[in-house]
Amino acid sequence: MFLSKEEERILNGEEGEVKQLALKLLVKLGEKFKAEKLIKITSVQIAGISYKTISEPGLEFIESLVNSGARVSVPAFMNPAGMDLDNWKEMGIKDEFAEKQKRIVEALKRAGVIPASTCTPYLCGLLPAKNEHLAWSESSAVIFANSVIGALTNREGGPSALASAIIGKTPYYGLHLKENRQPKLNVEFSGKIKDECDMYALAYCIAKQSKDIPYIKGVNVCDTDLLKGFGATLAAYNSLAIFHIENVTPEAKEYCNKDFCFEDKVRITDEDLEKAKEEMSEEGEEADIIMIGCPHTSAKEIAKINEMIGNKKMNKKMWIFTSKPVKILIERSNIALELEKKNVKIIADTCPVVAPIEELGIKCIVTNSGKATFYLPSTCKAKVIFMPIKEIVEKFAE
Ligand code: F3S
Repeated sequence: MFLSKEEERILNGEEGEVKQLALKLLVKLGEKFKAEKLIKITSVQIAGISYKTISEPGLEFIESLVNSGARVSVPAFMNPAGMDLDNWKEMGIKDEFAEKQKRIVEALKRAGVIPASTCTPYLCGLLPAKNEHLAWSESSAVIFANSVIGALTNREGGPSALASAIIGKTPYYGLHLKENRQPKLNVEFSGKIKDECDMYALAYCIAKQSKDIPYIKGVNVCDTDLLKGFGATLAAYNSLAIFHIENVTPEAKEYCNKDFCFEDKVRITDEDLEKAKEEMSEEGEEADIIMIGCPHTSAKEIAKINEMIGNKKMNKKMWIFTSKPVKILIERSNIALELEKKNVKIIADTCPVVAPIEELGIKCIVTNSGKATFYLPSTCKAKVIFMPIKEIVEKFAE
């Protein structure tokens, strides 16, 4: 891999051990994927922040790196932590877990990482432009950045994202290269998207058919919140990091001409969506709680939920997950207070999957998140009932 003179100096340890270690990691990664060089990035999003997922070795690694002087050189945001960093007691989080989680966040803050603790950094201060090179790591954030914004990022692991944040560069391979962003699968959707669960069921159907980058025709909606949930579901069910939707996503127009050759083609119908929704949901279970916000909810979504509940009150506990900046915005309005009276709590900084839900006695969760239907059963040992927010409110508000 080609290295500039400055990069060689760093690799030789002339700028200290931390930078040397970070660059070594990036060079190793670049060589593995046959990258020709490193390229500058404009921002980083670092996953692997929750004590639940990285435990003691992760905590020790981060603290020792920061104690040795690690400092980010480009704007870097944290992914969700394992708890609401201010109101963790209300969630029922144990003191020991909280103490470890705080140490992880404090160490990263000392390194200059911004504790937005969210998988939707683009909703709260980290919005790249088309063609910006990034090193983001949470799968829903990555697929949103690539597909909806048209920025360029691979899906980084926690350590490689941290290394990129320190150096300000990433290896030039994968989705940083135009040729690797082309769709191969032509998806013809002949049905109608009626709500968010239809949209995420479409992602599920595509994911079950192929791992190739899809070019999707026939989608009748264009909405940021739906696209963030759609991408999250696609990434969860088959690790895709980019998709294109005709007339919706920015790069789709490059592939819409009749001469573009796809390698494969699938058709998805309304019946397929109905079947998918059945597969994504557990039947006949008694839910303990309703969880919304995987990916983190936007302020718009929270306001809509408040509107939908209206003068009623939820008869089942409901938690809405979001970032701290969005929570502050909602608290500035009267919405947070109104929701509290309706038995709805807004939880910041964490999410249904990376919080230690399984230790809180939660066994069955109602959600409208396609991604959560994939992860909650495996990472939280919880059953999932999948239904759109409109139906959730109709069923549980009185
Ligand atoms: Fe975000 Fe957690 Fe879901 S990181 S996409 S809310 S699993």
